[in-house]
Amino acid sequence: MRDAFDREITYLRVSVTERCNLRCFYCRPAETEHPHGDDLDAAAVVRIIRAGTRVGIRKVRLTGGEPLIREDIVEMVGAIAAIPGIDDLALTTNGTLLAPLAHDLKKAGLKRVNVSLDTLQPERFRRITRGGELAATWEGITTALALGLAPVRLNAVVMRGINDDELVELALLTRDYPLHVRFIELMPIGQASDWAASRLVSVEEMMARLEKALGRLEPQKSPRDGGPARYWRLAGAPGTIGFIAPMSNYFCPSCNRLRLTAAGTLRPCLCREDEVDLRPLLARQASEAELAQAIAEAIRRKPEGNDETAMRPVRDRLMSEIGG
Ligand code: 5AD
Ligand code: SF4
Repeated sequence: MRDAFDREITYLRVSVTERCNLRCFYCRPAETEHPHGDDLDAAAVVRIIRAGTRVGIRKVRLTGGEPLIREDIVEMVGAIAAIPGIDDLALTTNGTLLAPLAHDLKKAGLKRVNVSLDTLQPERFRRITRGGELAATWEGITTALALGLAPVRLNAVVMRGINDDELVELALLTRDYPLHVRFIELMPIGQASDWAASRLVSVEEMMARLEKALGRLEPQKSPRDGGPARYWRLAGAPGTIGFIAPMSNYFCPSCNRLRLTAAGTLRPCLCREDEVDLRPLLARQASEAELAQAIAEAIRRKPEGNDETAMRPVRDRLMSEIGG
């Protein structure tokens, strides 16, 4: 279905849980769980996605929080993969629980994974994630590669003075592995809403620094899924280097997505508080047609986008609730 600005909305991002087994300092607070209520149950998520196919949703990404801490994640993936009309099913994870689950996830119908990885230094990983083990995430990544949950993309949020000295090392992964390393500009969301600007490294600066160290980057054709990343390649490398520039590139005109928050609301735009609450519908066992109407309503309520080029700060929810 097309929204009011003639964008075709085909992609639903689902935060299946706000909880996470890590607590990256820029994403989640040190304490508090569930600021906005319980996660949806798997049957509800599946019903919503099935309803979504009636209004043109064809691609789903499960995210969070950490989707793999849900005990029913493999069944949930299986049920979503079986929905006619869903032709792409991906998952975003911090990778720590991926190695033991990857085989079952793939068998259940998961196509590919994005793994969040901001540093290759174990001690720094522990600091950024407040206690996480880099080795577990790395094992998740190599397992995903071995099983062909491909393309395997790594997402690194670049923060000045925190990990921007690792741009080159992270980019060099693409020479050694068929990994797609994506550098993301830090956004002023949730925990980071007040200080993101002071740590922001623009994509322009990232690229200049990489080209200075590693030589020219060759532009690559964007993958068909039409996401906001732009891809480049080091000469002869099996993997690619991607850049996602929410702060310096105005991509609202090509936005094709809708978000389902962990709390059970549809969020037409990452940056706006406006949401369509599905919980009352779910509570009274509303029909799939009624759910589809609510999804259509959320699509109609998609705003044109941010003003000018700048993204506006998001304070009403954490990134992990909205779906990172
Ligand atoms: N800016 C950019 N990316 C973020 N993520 C979390 N918070 C932010 C932010 N403020 C990313 C994580 C992970 C996913 C859950 O969202 O790094 O890739
Ligand atoms: Fe968890 Fe990902 Fe947020 Fe880190 S960024 S706390 S891994 S949801």
